[in-house]
Amino acid sequence: MAKLRTQLFDCELPNPLVLASGPRSYGAAGIWEAYKAGAGAVVTKTLRPTLPVNPTPHILAPASRGLRNTLINAEEWSDISWEEWVYEEIPALAGHPGALIVSVGHTAHDVEKFIEPVALSEGVDIIECVSYSAAEMSLLIAAVRANTDLPILAKLSFNWGAELLPTAEAALEAGCSGFTAIDSIGPALQIDIETSRPLLASAGGKGWMSGAAIKPLALSIVADLKKRFGKPVVGTGGIFSAADVIEMTMAGADAVGVCSAPILYGNEWFTKTLDKLALWLTEHDYASLEEIIGSALPHLDSNQTSSGLKFYFDPLLCNLCRKCVIVCPYNARQLFGNTRRDESIITSLDSEKCRSCGLCSSVCAPQALTSEIIP
Ligand SMILES: Cc1cc2nc3c(=O)[nH]c(=O)nc-3n(C[C@H](O)[C@H](O)[C@H](O)COP(=O)(O)O)c2cc1C
Repeated sequence: MAKLRTQLFDCELPNPLVLASGPRSYGAAGIWEAYKAGAGAVVTKTLRPTLPVNPTPHILAPASRGLRNTLINAEEWSDISWEEWVYEEIPALAGHPGALIVSVGHTAHDVEKFIEPVALSEGVDIIECVSYSAAEMSLLIAAVRANTDLPILAKLSFNWGAELLPTAEAALEAGCSGFTAIDSIGPALQIDIETSRPLLASAGGKGWMSGAAIKPLALSIVADLKKRFGKPVVGTGGIFSAADVIEMTMAGADAVGVCSAPILYGNEWFTKTLDKLALWLTEHDYASLEEIIGSALPHLDSNQTSSGLKFYFDPLLCNLCRKCVIVCPYNARQLFGNTRRDESIITSLDSEKCRSCGLCSSVCAPQALTSEIIP
């Protein structure tokens, strides 16, 4: 079987899966469950000097409204004090496998109160810094760096837009060693149409979105960070399958963070995904995961120019759902047939009308209709 271990700074992780900061890393008991299920590293819930008051309710799964594998949350930072983390929770993690990453935030002023005892705690391998504001990030990193030689991850937010890469650069200058990308994004809103009220009880009913909906954003930022700085990146956002882990690794992630998937599917998600990951790599003749880190990056440099698309159709895979016909705004595609997965099914394309947008093959779930770019 292909080897899954990966290097994050000085830590050799048994595999790339990192439980990202969130409810499943609320304390030592939850963190042990993740390690036992196979997580290669865990990031604690974020430590701050005071305890939060979470609104009730504060986590939504809007699947019934079409957003599968997506969450909206208004959960604040750790509801366990930093003193308890230092004197009880972190000591209870002695002998943990993989890496232990302690998340701290959200300002330089906040962390000054506890960063020294946290960083000196036995068993802490990496510090992750998270802030609500791009402007604060380098001050936060500098405050942590003044107290420790441990590697520091700067956790970046898609919300920072054009400020994201300059913020990453400033964070490196302030002493961070690599990046976690990305945090949940927002604000996001969901309304109960029976009552006209927001479903979250937070200020303005708003929260932060995570899960499948944010994966393409996370991939894009991870690739940008890796290309620009070449530093270790924990690619986080919307990872739900072994294929997602592979995609994130190909975008340049050295390790892959997950929060929503283990929230929705339990910590068994780690065990199942690791098996599938090793199998995929082996079946594709990779000896190790490390071989694919950043393998997509050389293909992201140039503008892809093509003269058109070449389509392939396998009638034995076609379930006659007609999605390929329905999505074509130009009525260029047609499908003829009466029995699913039958060799008599025929598809035709009016090349005068077709604009080669590629959507017809992209929506084909059974992959009966596929396409190839003609250079
Ligand atoms: C309920 C919930 C609570 C979270 N709490 C924290 C937190 O305390 N600190 C933090 O840095 N990120 C927090 N996050 C963000 C996650 O660590 C992660 O960056 C984000 O959810 C994207 O990953 P995902 O799509 O796998 O969930 C939280 C996310 C969720 C869903």
